Amino acid sequence: MSQHFTDPSPVYASPAREAADWWRHAVIYQVYPRSFADSDGDGTGDLQGVRQRLPYLRDLGVDAVWLSPFYASPQADGGYDVADYRAVDPMYGTLLDADAVIRDAHALGLRIIVDLVPNHSSDQHEWFKRAVAEGPGSPLRDRYHFRTGKGEHGELPPNDWESIFGGPAWTRLPDGEWYLHLFAPEQPDLNWEHPAVADEFRSILRFWLDMGVDGFRVDVAHGLVKAEGLPDLGGGDQLKLLGNAVMPFFDQDGVHEIYRSWRLVLDEYDGDRIFVAEAWTPTVERTALYVRPDELHQAFNFQYLSAPWEAAELRRLIDSSLDAMRPVGAPATWVLSNHDVTRHATRYANPPGLGTQIRTAGDRELGLRRARAATLLMLALPGSAYLYQGEELGLPDVTDLPDEVRQDPSFFRAQGQDGFRDGCRVPIPWTRTGPSYGFGDGGSWLPQPDAWGELSVEAQTGVPDSTLEMYRRALAVRRELPGLGAGTDVTWHDELPAGILRFDRPGFACTVNTTGTAVRIAAPGRMLLASGPVTVADGRLDLPADTTVWWAV
Ligand code: NOJ
Repeated sequence: MSQHFTDPSPVYASPAREAADWWRHAVIYQVYPRSFADSDGDGTGDLQGVRQRLPYLRDLGVDAVWLSPFYASPQADGGYDVADYRAVDPMYGTLLDADAVIRDAHALGLRIIVDLVPNHSSDQHEWFKRAVAEGPGSPLRDRYHFRTGKGEHGELPPNDWESIFGGPAWTRLPDGEWYLHLFAPEQPDLNWEHPAVADEFRSILRFWLDMGVDGFRVDVAHGLVKAEGLPDLGGGDQLKLLGNAVMPFFDQDGVHEIYRSWRLVLDEYDGDRIFVAEAWTPTVERTALYVRPDELHQAFNFQYLSAPWEAAELRRLIDSSLDAMRPVGAPATWVLSNHDVTRHATRYANPPGLGTQIRTAGDRELGLRRARAATLLMLALPGSAYLYQGEELGLPDVTDLPDEVRQDPSFFRAQGQDGFRDGCRVPIPWTRTGPSYGFGDGGSWLPQPDAWGELSVEAQTGVPDSTLEMYRRALAVRRELPGLGAGTDVTWHDELPAGILRFDRPGFACTVNTTGTAVRIAAPGRMLLASGPVTVADGRLDLPADTTVWWAV
């Protein structure tokens, strides 16, 4: 028998919104609104586009949708530069559209998580504009990090920190003062020691909780508090974009007090709402501190995202992630792609060790085969999993975007040496043909490759071995075996050849071949699903290279 899929057939039941602790095993789908669906044909995705595609997400079988920022913003960093935290940017629609998305999602049994960007505002935020206009001595400057410079005339930055997007982390105003921005100059860092900042964000939380959102993804959750005195780093040990190094502006103990105060606000609301932290920390143990019972609920597992396709390392990271979360009672989370990293179909198409921003397409076929196997491995693990729009289509990164269409601020600040995040942000294809492959009736703000139509939702729907149908089946199985995402343990089998993983969960087993060579092993039970063509005969399984199989045992 050679096949990709067996029973059960997919069930597209709505998740029960009232289910307590839904987030402990939820599959959460990230929508990057600018690139998801464009309802008015202006080339940019919008909230009505999201709304129209909610049934697709329900049928895909996810539990919740995380929306990247759609707030009023000059878009210096794709909306992670917020000018008004309580307004929708006109390019995305209106607050009424946001309300419609939330209501329709709930009617379909989907939850909505919105992005919260507390580390920095836009330089077009009212506070910052007034702070600049009022000049040195303005009390509004205390809400950001304004300083005088070093050197005889204050002509040198106050310290040696570099921006994560390249260049100094300080910009000097014509009045002579400098302000801190860990990201682009258009993203001044807020001063979380100032009570008005803390008050304002508790109020922003309430605004969106009152709108009915089910939670928040907290941007740069590890960055809000800076080390006392903003000390120099000293030496050449500058940070990498989205790195895990120890830094005086990241992962300071003071951030936890902020999250404890936010938790009190959230817990006033009904409906089991959550926070998920974007916290790049040196270790998973440090990440676990963000999800203690009185703080946030989940944190992204970037160590897992950064792992090579290599059995021993994957096993080590799975174990250390589960071990780190168990004492604090939080679920482990798993993620392979998001809007900041090269899609996993392209990461795995390239040799390991290139980091999470890669500019070469690599071996596409290999990348897709591994990506599918990696996805089935991830979706079999206990805890909550995050999907990024388009990964269910097996989309690769677009690695050959011409420089003149790029918009990632880090590309420009690093003189094109870094910052290839536009490659994973190309609008996704819905139809085989037509303007922007069904993204909208017009063009698309980043050019889509010619081959995009064959990767579209339309082209893959109903095709049994397509990546889209694999995701649908996997999510359906996850619903039919409720124990799959639950719990905190896996049981490993050690008797397998190097490069082969097998772990069991109650009533379930998962086998993974991370090597480039087929192996023959004992079939553990009844095959449920496979990431590629496999053959089972006489209780033996021929497991091809880079393939994962799910079993009922
Ligand atoms: C993390 C976000 O995911 C990324 O897109 C953004 O550039 C930085 N935070 C700054 O907000």
